[in-house]
Amino acid sequence: MLVSMLLHRKARPMNSLFSRFKRLPEPSKTAAGWPKWTSETAFATPNFHFETQISDYTKKTTADVIQLLKPKSFLELYDSYIADARYVLEIGFFQGGMPLYISDMSTAEKIVAIDLSHVPEPISGIISAKGLQHRVSMHGGVNQSDVERVTAIIQDEFKEKSIDLIADDASHLYEPTKRSFETCFSYLKPGGRYIIEDWGWSHWNKGDFLKGHKLFSEETTPLSQLILEIVLAQCAQGGVIAKIEIFNGSLIAITRGTALKHGERLDLDSLVNGGRILDLRRRVD
Ligand SMILES: C[S@@+](CC[C@H](N)C(=O)[O-])C[C@H]1O[C@@H](n2cnc3c(N)ncnc32)[C@H](O)[C@@H]1O
Repeated sequence: MLVSMLLHRKARPMNSLFSRFKRLPEPSKTAAGWPKWTSETAFATPNFHFETQISDYTKKTTADVIQLLKPKSFLELYDSYIADARYVLEIGFFQGGMPLYISDMSTAEKIVAIDLSHVPEPISGIISAKGLQHRVSMHGGVNQSDVERVTAIIQDEFKEKSIDLIADDASHLYEPTKRSFETCFSYLKPGGRYIIEDWGWSHWNKGDFLKGHKLFSEETTPLSQLILEIVLAQCAQGGVIAKIEIFNGSLIAITRGTALKHGERLDLDSLVNGGRILDLRRRVD
């Protein structure tokens, strides 16, 4: 979740840390009845304790508490998407929260995650302590716009298997987010979903959000441009994108159609605008 950009939302009190993992019950196969929330920002899954908030990038995962950057509403949406997912890719793992959350809340066989940053130190210990080495795989130092590297990771990790869910919560910038989408979308199974979080930042607070956020205010192209291209791609060629759902908080879920071959690169510019970059709204201030 893109952090301090959400400062306009209500601040939530942080609760104290929880007890240790070993005091928790063993995981249930389906995780029915989980997660158990103890406050607006703290909850447990069968094996783990989590804290989640949306405005502090400095929080670190420890052996006892795993950090997430998501509002509860997004996690609830993910719960419905991971229920039947076997293969999952997350772009932007931050403190490793989502891969561990999905591993404990679903029966997914493989959860792969990438991030520009390195894998937080306690994560490897948690993964081996819980015997998750074959299900959870995190790759640090990977730029989401590095087409060759991202493709190699997908092919190596998932082999010929199609992915059920891809979630991009990484740079939130137009170019890298578009590169990832074009690279990864056809590795989804038909009916699989591609999530992009926080795409609406240039419009938040009627644009005032940008005043306090240098990275985004210096970005010439809002991420919403990509969302418009994806909408137009759906009408340009039937079957590439089966469905588009947009949720509160700037989360979009794009469902793959049947038209693309597995691994075929999607070229949005060519699909939407004859190879020219569509420029619906370019920021000039
Ligand atoms: C908002 S945080 C992700 C939060 C995480 N998904 C969660 O729910 O806890 C964004 C992450 O994206 C990573 N990131 C930023 N730019 C990136 C890029 N170009 N490629 C890959 N990761 C990137 C950052 O290092 C950061 O860890």
